[in-house]
Amino acid sequence: AATTAYEAENATIVQGTVANNHTGFTGTGFVDYTNVTGSYVEFHVSVAAAGSSSLTFRYANGTTVNRPMDIAVNGTVVAAGTAFPATTNWDTWATKAVNAQLTAGSNTIRATATTANGGPNLDDLTVSGATDSQPPTT
Ligand code: GCU
Repeated sequence: AATTAYEAENATIVQGTVANNHTGFTGTGFVDYTNVTGSYVEFHVSVAAAGSSSLTFRYANGTTVNRPMDIAVNGTVVAAGTAFPATTNWDTWATKAVNAQLTAGSNTIRATATTANGGPNLDDLTVSGATDSQPPTT
């Protein structure tokens, strides 16, 4: 199935800002999570049929400390405390994939920081089976 990349800077951002002060991002920037518990980015993703999709988050974490996040689909946490470990510096990006069941049609996928450090810098989310020919900007 197709995959679609959803830029974090085009998603719904609560307690975070769009930034471009580090290199290597895709699109026009990335989301710099506010350094608080509960900061989040929420994507709207459509798939044709219900089933398991791979959700791949591209991120940077220039600290030496994990920046875990809860991954929620349609309001239910499906991967609690998912680790986003250090990536050497803020210009170095890595991916973290989780599998989740999506429902046919529109889904929300939210990545919420679970520590006071906030989330990592988030570049995009790639979803297998997504049917959006152009990622929606919501
Ligand atoms: C630095 C870095 C930011 C990052 C922030 C953080 O300020 O430049 O890109 O988001 O640290 O700790 O979250």
